Amino acid sequence: MPDTVRVPLGDRSYDVVVGSSLLGNCAESIGEVLGKPRLFVLFDEAVALPWAQQVMDSLSTAGFAFDHVSVPSGEKSKSVAEISRLWEMMAQRAFTRDTTLVAVGGGVIGDLGGFLAGSYLRGIPFVQIPTTLLAMVDSSVGGKTGINLQAGKNLVGAFWQPALVLADIDTLSTLPIEEFRSGMAEVIKYGVIRDPDLFSWLEQLGPNPAAADLTRIVHRSVQIKAEVVSGDERETTGLRAILNFGHTLGHAIEAEGAYSAFRHGEAIAIGMVAASLLALKRETGWSSDDHSRLEKLLKQSELPTSLPKGYSARRLIDRTRVDKKAVSGQVRYILPTSLGSVKFVKGVDENAVLSVLHEIGAAPE
Ligand code: NAD
Ligand code: GLY
Repeated sequence: MPDTVRVPLGDRSYDVVVGSSLLGNCAESIGEVLGKPRLFVLFDEAVALPWAQQVMDSLSTAGFAFDHVSVPSGEKSKSVAEISRLWEMMAQRAFTRDTTLVAVGGGVIGDLGGFLAGSYLRGIPFVQIPTTLLAMVDSSVGGKTGINLQAGKNLVGAFWQPALVLADIDTLSTLPIEEFRSGMAEVIKYGVIRDPDLFSWLEQLGPNPAAADLTRIVHRSVQIKAEVVSGDERETTGLRAILNFGHTLGHAIEAEGAYSAFRHGEAIAIGMVAASLLALKRETGWSSDDHSRLEKLLKQSELPTSLPKGYSARRLIDRTRVDKKAVSGQVRYILPTSLGSVKFVKGVDENAVLSVLHEIGAAPE
C-alpha cells in the first residue's frame, strides 16, 4: 500500500504518494486529481526506459491525449536556452491552459518542468514524478522551481506548487549509487534538523536500505519537508530556511568545484560537518558526541566529510557572501543545537569559519 503525505497549503494543497508500482497506475492517480486534461510529459533522457515509458503506457491505456519530449540529462538543461526551446515547443503545439505538465526525472527535470509550468501562459498545473532519492525527499516537494544563469544556480524561478507528486521507489533501482548517496545526505539533514529518531534509525540501517526501509525513509523525509514548507511556503518567516542546514558552505563548496567536483548532496555532507564544527565553537548546545555521530553516519553512508586538496578557505568564505540567505551582505548559518533542532545564527565570526574550514581540509588562502 502506498503512503500518502498531504502538503497542506490551502487551495494549493496536494498529496505526495510514496510507494512501489506507482508509475504503471499513474493515469488513475492523475485522473483522480486533475480529471482528464491534455498532458505534456517532460522526461530526463536517462529515464526514458523504463520509467517514462511506463508513465506513457499507463496514460495511453487510460486514453489520455499527451505529447512528450525528452530533455538532456544534467544541470545544463536548467538553462534559459532549454526552457526557451520548451516554451516555443508548447506554443507551437498550441497547448492551452487546460494542459497539465508531467515532469519525470530528478531535481533538474522537476525544477525545469516546474518553472516551465509556472511560467507558460502564466501558469498551468503540473505533476512531479521524481526518479532520484534527492528529488523524492527534497526538490519535488515545496514548489521551488527554477533555472540557472551564467551568474549562478537557481537565480531565476518561481514558487509553483505541483498538483500531485508520485514518488515510486522502484525507479531508484536504476539510479547510480553515487546519486543515491547524494540523496541520503538530505535524509540525514532531516534527522539533524527535525527528527532524532530518524537519525538513530539511519545509524542502525547501514548504507544499502531494503525497499521497505526506503519507502519509510522517503515517507518520513517528505513528512518533515511538508511540515516545514506548510509553515513557511515562501521562506518569509525563517522556518523554511532550516532546510538549508549545511547549505551555506555546501553551496560555496559546490561552486568552488565548478559544480563538477561534487554532487549536491556530497557538498552538503561536507557543509554539514563544517556547520557542526561551527556549532561546537559557538557552544550552541551541540555536543562533541553529536558531532561524532553525524560524522560517523555520513561516513557510513559513504559521503565525504572533508575537502580534498586545492580548496581555499578564503575563496569559500567569499562565496558564502552571495548565498541567497545572506541579508545585507551578512552571512547567516543554520547551526544545530541538539539532534533534531537547529537555530539561525548571524554575525558568525569569520575567524571561526576560517578555522573550521582549515579543520576540514581547506588551505589557508
Ligand atoms: P539530476 O536531476 O541531475 O539527476 C541526477 C542524475 O541521475 C542525472 O544524471 C539523471 O539523468 C540521472 N537519473 C535520474 N533518475 C534516474 C534513475 N531513476 N535511474 C538512472 N538515472 C537517473 O539531479 P538531482 O540530484 O535529482 O537534483 C539536483 C537538482 O535539484 C539541482 O539542480 C538542484 O538545484 C535541484 N534542487 C532543487 C530543490 C528544490 O527545492 N526545488 C532542492 C534540492 C535540489
Ligand atoms: N531545498 C530547500 C527548500 O526547498 O526550501
